[in-house]
Amino acid sequence: MGTQENEQTGVTGRRMLLGAAVLGAGGAVLGLSGTARAAETRHGGGGGGVKSLPKPTIIGHRGASGYRPEHTLGSYQLALDMGADIVEAGDLVPTRDGHLVCRHEPEIGGTTDVADHPEFADRKKTKLLDGVSTTGWFTEDFTLAELKTLRATERIPANRPHNTLYNGRWEIPTFEEVLRWQDEQTRGRGKQVWIYPELKHPTYFRKQGLALEERVAKVLHKHGKDRRNSPVILQSFEPTSVQRLNKLVDNPLVVLLSGATSRPWDFVETGDPRTVADLIKPAGLREIASYAQGIGPTLDLVIPKDANGNLTAPTTLVSDAHKVGLILHPYTMRNENPFLPTNFRKGTDADAYGDVFGAYRTYFATGIDGVFTDNPDTGVLAREDFVNS
Ligand code: G3P
Ligand code: CA
Repeated sequence: MGTQENEQTGVTGRRMLLGAAVLGAGGAVLGLSGTARAAETRHGGGGGGVKSLPKPTIIGHRGASGYRPEHTLGSYQLALDMGADIVEAGDLVPTRDGHLVCRHEPEIGGTTDVADHPEFADRKKTKLLDGVSTTGWFTEDFTLAELKTLRATERIPANRPHNTLYNGRWEIPTFEEVLRWQDEQTRGRGKQVWIYPELKHPTYFRKQGLALEERVAKVLHKHGKDRRNSPVILQSFEPTSVQRLNKLVDNPLVVLLSGATSRPWDFVETGDPRTVADLIKPAGLREIASYAQGIGPTLDLVIPKDANGNLTAPTTLVSDAHKVGLILHPYTMRNENPFLPTNFRKGTDADAYGDVFGAYRTYFATGIDGVFTDNPDTGVLAREDFVNS
């Protein structure tokens, strides 16, 4: 068995494909003239907002990270080429000099070649990251110029040996580079490109004087992408971070939810005793709906697994969330056996694909509004099967 990434892992039936992206170039089907379309793009507008996205929405998780090292422009680009409706570009962490860069976590030993840089050997540290002792190299100890000398590498080579072909090819992107890339891609494809950045460890960084929310808001405002219809959805595992964002920007906001027994780190720090199990009760969902437009639960909160890892019956989360007006974008679908429910695995090879289409059918049938996936191509095909069946 290869290395596995450590991830905790109503309205039913067919959902209509909504809006432009499915039918063709966004502006064209929205009935915009060329000039209006150009203006829309210039001003960072997303036309009809989240409602214009196809459903179930296919979100390229860290790009197309099933095929390329995550959070690189190569991974983001491939996600679009494969038909992703939104690209999770990126998970955002800060540098020592206050720039926002795209990495899944502050520690970069697992996704860059930093260990091969002797000039940074003395930056290796052990820190307490949201209560977890973590050893490695941390973005907040590097300037942007220093980080730009590194190159991205594959996080899980045992599951994705082919992706190591691309080790060393791409830099760590900055958030500003992503926003410019989004505009270039929108112009080049004649279709609005959406992104779905996540603010990582907001409390941890705020305590170090590197607050994320104000930085994200400032950059989005500079690029004219801080509006209700801007093609940028923001997400965080910390509810108070999303509440803070709600005061700073008008973008659609999503609260991520980890395992039922877990407690968001901001709750731990502020002494709020609630767990995710409390947040997904009707009262918790109502509260979230007062400042956010959606939730991003683990797939296990939508359909729990039994002791053997097989899917059981769906929970009421989809209908409960929809009742209070929240959309659901669960995470994360991956093609490889170790990441699939046991009853959808084929054999035991860690890098072999299981019956991912069967798994998609089961999850889509719950009525979820979209899903994060490392493999946008299979997600798009599964969506096509689902809406046509
Ligand atoms: O943001 C959705 C999903 O990406 C959350 O999980 O840990 O991959 O950021 P993670
Ligand atoms: Ca994420």
